[in-house]
Amino acid sequence: MKTNIAVAGKGGTGKTTICALLIRNLVDKKDGAVLALDADPNSNLNELLGVRIKSTIGQLVEDFKKKGAVISSGMYKDQMVEINIHQSVIEENGFDLLIMGRGEGPGCYCAANNLFKKYIDMLQDSYHYVVMDNEAGMEHLSRKTTHDIKYLLIISDPTPRGVLTAARLRDLTKELNINAQEVFLILNRVDKELDPRLLNYINEQKFKILSIINTDKEIINLELDGKTIFDLPSDSISLLQTKDLLKKLNI
Ligand SMILES: Nc1ncnc2c1ncn2[C@@H]1O[C@H](COP(=O)(O)OP(=O)(O)O)[C@@H](O)[C@H]1O
Ligand SMILES: [Mg+2]
Repeated sequence: MKTNIAVAGKGGTGKTTICALLIRNLVDKKDGAVLALDADPNSNLNELLGVRIKSTIGQLVEDFKKKGAVISSGMYKDQMVEINIHQSVIEENGFDLLIMGRGEGPGCYCAANNLFKKYIDMLQDSYHYVVMDNEAGMEHLSRKTTHDIKYLLIISDPTPRGVLTAARLRDLTKELNINAQEVFLILNRVDKELDPRLLNYINEQKFKILSIINTDKEIINLELDGKTIFDLPSDSISLLQTKDLLKKLNI
């Protein structure tokens, strides 16, 4: 059965890191095809996954523009787009990656975004697991794709202000017509016991904490050494905690 997980949250909360950790766990599990989606125009999920960018949807849009005359004389634009979809999916060991990116100049983001959503719709059913990294706002997910998000994970640091921002993001999904079947809070970079006042506040915000991810020295080292998520020792705390997170989702 197909499961798609979208990760959202304020900038710097650890969205990309958690996506990479989830992908590493799913790849290790060898339990079906995995698609990683990088929907952040300032994308860097590929770096953490150790993937060199070959193409992004943004670049594809640029190419279309340049070939504009040719397209209008022959094939319909949409057909061209569908033919090019496989060019945009980067195949790696154990998973595939699709990057939204952005084109050059105004309006290009929107075009890349629309095409990205179209691709998501076309591709989703070919994978068992889809994990999507998102930009801080979630506007790019509005005018939803035909597929619902099964699990929306909102990442926050363990502070009331962080949790309030996360709650606002959750409420924004409703305004933007983003259909998420279940929404959970993930507290990341936790380095001490949670204050009962914070837990109380989270309750008041009607949030369900799915998982707590500790500050992991191995993640810090990884970044300093320029290594990838696949170099992370299998007993590192964040990897085990995200494995447990997946278990809670019956994955
Ligand atoms: N659990 C963690 N332990 C240690 N460092 C972390 C953890 N989660 C995230 N980081 C670090 O925090 C910074 C921001 O994380 P990132 O995943 O890029 O956030 P976002 O994608 O939300 O902007 C990065 O330097 C990352 O290595
Ligand atoms: Mg990020």
